[in-house]
Amino acid sequence: MADISTDVLVIGTGPAGSAAAALLSSYGISNMAVNQYRWLANTPRAHITNQRTMEVLRDLGREVEDEAYLFATHQDLMGENIFCESLAGEEIGRMKAWGNHPLSRAEHQMSSPGRMNDLPQTYMEPLLFKTACSRGTQARMSTEYLHHEQDNEGVTTVLRDRLTGGEFTVRSKYLIGADGGKSLVAEHAGLPFEGKMAVGGSMNILFRADLSKYVAHRPSVLYWVMQPGADVGGIGMGLVRMVRPWNEWLIVWGYDINGPEPEVTPEFATSVARQLIGDPDLEIELLAASTWTVNDYYATRVSEGRVFCMGDAIHRHPPSNGLGSNTSIQDAFNLAWKLAFVLKGQAGEGLLASYDDERAPVARQIVTRANQSIAETAPIFAALGMDGGVSPEQMQKNLEARSDGTAEAAAQREAIRKAIAFKKYEFDAHGVEMNQRYRSPAVVVEDQIEPAFQLDADLHYQPTTWPGARLPHVWLYRHDNGEEVSTLDLCGHGRFTLLTGLGGEAWVEAAGKVSSHLGIDLARHVIGPRCEFADHSGDWARICEIQDNGCLLVRPDHHVCWRATALVADPAADLARVLRQVLAR
Ligand code: FDA
Repeated sequence: MADISTDVLVIGTGPAGSAAAALLSSYGISNMAVNQYRWLANTPRAHITNQRTMEVLRDLGREVEDEAYLFATHQDLMGENIFCESLAGEEIGRMKAWGNHPLSRAEHQMSSPGRMNDLPQTYMEPLLFKTACSRGTQARMSTEYLHHEQDNEGVTTVLRDRLTGGEFTVRSKYLIGADGGKSLVAEHAGLPFEGKMAVGGSMNILFRADLSKYVAHRPSVLYWVMQPGADVGGIGMGLVRMVRPWNEWLIVWGYDINGPEPEVTPEFATSVARQLIGDPDLEIELLAASTWTVNDYYATRVSEGRVFCMGDAIHRHPPSNGLGSNTSIQDAFNLAWKLAFVLKGQAGEGLLASYDDERAPVARQIVTRANQSIAETAPIFAALGMDGGVSPEQMQKNLEARSDGTAEAAAQREAIRKAIAFKKYEFDAHGVEMNQRYRSPAVVVEDQIEPAFQLDADLHYQPTTWPGARLPHVWLYRHDNGEEVSTLDLCGHGRFTLLTGLGGEAWVEAAGKVSSHLGIDLARHVIGPRCEFADHSGDWARICEIQDNGCLLVRPDHHVCWRATALVADPAADLARVLRQVLAR
């Protein structure tokens, strides 16, 4: 007999676990979340927060979204992305990042009601955790996962109370392993992995110092420092990262993984800070220092029976592209509604298998992307004549050489410009963040051909309502008060949504019948003049890829699961057939 029982036990209260708990509680599912430590993240690791993540927070409620923006550094202050010899030294080049180039900004604004921002993990985790606990999650800190065993009806997990040392068991119907990059749950569940752990060594130095005079005129989240040794281990270059503008910072500096792990003493931390900032007299208030490894490792299957893993537990990669916590939160958005539907008896257990089909490819994609971004730093060093390692004197000579009036220097400047511009695949890869298209039995494509990407799919988001893709965002207008509403706002909140236009009223009626027959909540909206929502700008008509009397069926995670381009003879029959397939009933 277990000591405690709950529907879902979540191991870990990082971005993945806290988001899963917050979503499950919002959907009315009993859940418990445990963390081996007494509190949440104590250093601001993740920070770049992308639009898709902001859509998840918006789905959790406007108060959650608003609080994130309240504490975040605004997108406007994120984007100069400087490459320099030190903060006080010579600037080598820069590129506008994170949607700050005017063309990229336009794409961002057209793609989502959310905006990219910089929200350190020390703010994101408490926000998600508070949302979870205030909505019903039973949370236990200082509680360590030891092992689990599953059978046909559920999972029995053994935990240790680290305050008393006593062990106890929790019986749950499902177990979520959101226990980070050293996941024991993934290991005990026997998930298969590909790639390698510890391909590079890195250290974090967190400190306070007012660096306004070096940065305020060129606001950025990231200042990349090219110095001898900067390409060893780590993330490809020395990094001075803004945590709070402009007086809290995190330096990321690499070390050779094949050598001994450096001891990051206060003296050593101060000397690295002085070297990267280029101020030999700089005084810092050291807050924390730690080492970590660069990983290139992902699970090829992300669940086993009743155990589902998410976040760093299934994708382990360097922070390049800022995808870690974002993808972790998005994993949770994919799984939580499925668990809720199964636990409420509204879907068959087969629905849960789609978590594997849909998120394992994402794990592989982002791990590959983040590691490739490190490799793509090399051309900048090469263009500066710094590949193969250089002395400070040689580096000065190389930097000077680029300022000559000679043809060689012009060629070198061109090579530097090209190499820096290519880094948009790391710092402005909007497509990587937004283009996820799912293929699984929880998506009914039928004979509809997938639209090919017109532009580079890593760089540019391409809206489509092709089943499997995220519903495109456009602004609509509420008929009663003219208020602007995103198409995404019509969807989500744990329920399916049917969208149609004038002439599609039969879909609405059919959806009402089918939803009561299946016992599920199915929101229904007609878009058009004098309807609940108007498309005054015509943006919806241009983007929806269906006729006015067609329909889109959207899952609770905003992904389209089926569409009909026009009204059919028996809409109820089609909707019932599709929903039965999606819900594995
Ligand atoms: P995470 O590791 O955060 O949490 C794991 C949880 O499990 C913790 O609560 C832990 O205590 C708990 N746990 C572990 N073992 C346990 C056990 N046995 N029993 C009980 N509890 C246990 N990402 C991003 O999206 N944007 C960015 O800009 C960056 N930047 C960045 C910079 C730097 C320097 C680093 C090191 C990392 C990033 N990241 C990032 C990555 C990001 O930090 C990372 O991907 C997320 O924290 C992963 O979230 P998870 O919830 O999966 O694991």
